[in-house]
Amino acid sequence: MSLLNILTLPDSRLKTVAEPITEINDEIKQLAADMLETMYAAPGIGLAATQVDRHIQLVVIDVSEEKNQPLVMLNPEVIEQAGIQNHEEGCLSVPGIYAKVKRADQVVVSYLDTEGQQQELSATGLLAVCIQHEIDHLKGIVFLDHLSVLKRKLALKKLAKVAVDA
Ligand code: NI
Repeated sequence: MSLLNILTLPDSRLKTVAEPITEINDEIKQLAADMLETMYAAPGIGLAATQVDRHIQLVVIDVSEEKNQPLVMLNPEVIEQAGIQNHEEGCLSVPGIYAKVKRADQVVVSYLDTEGQQQELSATGLLAVCIQHEIDHLKGIVFLDHLSVLKRKLALKKLAKVAVDA
């Protein structure tokens, strides 16, 4: 296993749209394992392949307190959604910046697991937020893109300052 480098804004590679996974091989399984290790070490609750400069539809998530409920989703897609929530989000690719983002409160996500089995998961609250946030990454979208122009500008200014201070 190995820790992967996480791309951060304003790296334009974060805007890359990820390709669907057509074959699950050892390389994909190794990438998923490395992404989980990288996410736990960061620490974070979700990581998309886009963030480690691999442009395939793969995300890993663990929102549990004990960090013992890893989820690996290949080709994830929200197939149902309902309600609205306004949750404060952060992102390993946007270090030090947090902002409230309006998203669906409940989602049903369809995906393949690492054995190639089709799965469906119903999620609410933080898990629903995380799923939507990670699927956005696969489309080249970061959470700041959901903010108003003014709020996004302020956040990017702060990000630049955080980077200088670090
Ligand atoms: Ni993120």
